Amino acid sequence: MELKITCIPGDGIGPEIVAEAKKVLEKTACVYGHKMIFTDILMGGASIDVHGVPLTDEAIAVAKSADAVLMGSIGGDTTKSPWYKLPPEKRPEAGLLGIRKALNLFANLRPAILYDELAAACPLKEEISRAGFDMLIMRELTGGLYFGERRTTVENGLRKAVDTLTYDENEIRRIAVKGFDIARKRRKKVTSVDKANVLDSSRLWRQVVEEVAKDYPDVTLEHMLVDNCAMQLVKDPAQFDVILTENMFGDILSDEASMVTGSIGMLASASLNDTKFGLYEPSHGSAPDIAGKDIANPIATVLSAAMMLRYSFDLDREADAVEAAVKQVLKDGYRTGDIMSAGCRKVGCSEMGSLLAERIS
Ligand code: IPM
Ligand code: MG
Repeated sequence: MELKITCIPGDGIGPEIVAEAKKVLEKTACVYGHKMIFTDILMGGASIDVHGVPLTDEAIAVAKSADAVLMGSIGGDTTKSPWYKLPPEKRPEAGLLGIRKALNLFANLRPAILYDELAAACPLKEEISRAGFDMLIMRELTGGLYFGERRTTVENGLRKAVDTLTYDENEIRRIAVKGFDIARKRRKKVTSVDKANVLDSSRLWRQVVEEVAKDYPDVTLEHMLVDNCAMQLVKDPAQFDVILTENMFGDILSDEASMVTGSIGMLASASLNDTKFGLYEPSHGSAPDIAGKDIANPIATVLSAAMMLRYSFDLDREADAVEAAVKQVLKDGYRTGDIMSAGCRKVGCSEMGSLLAERIS
């Protein structure tokens, strides 16, 4: 199979971790007889430095012409980097929001798994973590507060800012369908998270999710208020299979879920549209403080590449091989600094990539 992949190395540790994911993908292509053609584009701060804007139309066109996009991370230190002196629509994050919208990537899948080998890193009490957990947050990504009308004004000398949270039923239905479809392939449970005791947008969300649920009698649906969900994630994470939620709630809950795994450097994500096309990126940020030091953990990006093989290319065997390589490398006792524990061997970003590639078979 010939696979056209656009890469966005981005900022901070982005270029280092993307290089290692490419290494693993190239080895996978070699073992399984595929041809991968990589094309890099600039986004975020890297694009600002060259073009003055975080995302150009040309870069979007290149991304659109590929079969999938693999991204590292974007953004810098918000207190120090000159990128954050620019108006909001010219900052690195605007590039990320821009590409999500331009490619209609409305479904964001963020798995949060407690790996046996890394159970010690889980910050929860042992009696809670013992049960393990494997959940998937299905976050709506192109609507809600992130893309609603916003403005900042001064009225009679009083500064005022407004953001709006809007959803129509079609936007809710298409993400709910994705959530139920994926639950069917997992443990068949959807927890739809909203704030229906306060927000109209949440009440509509709940109604539409219930309508969609009628087509999935084999999947159990429960509703949970977002504040309760934040609490349940640390009290009893094993109860969750698929968490289905709107953009802002998903942003916050997915950071919390990744923290309870104890290893944010391990968590992948996929952002999908209605077709097989997707953008794949680690759930963590650009970590500018450790950029260029060859100490970042490339595993989240490698696992994102595995999601790409699975969701965009239907290459399940190859995706399994990448995931198995990750488990094997951990079993063999290799760790980057962020997941280091006693008795293991500490390796850098590039060595971790090579160890993973070696284990692809
Ligand atoms: C994420 C990030 C982004 C978001 C930022 C960088 C705009 O936090 O992907 O979760 O809020 O969506
Ligand atoms: Mg976030």
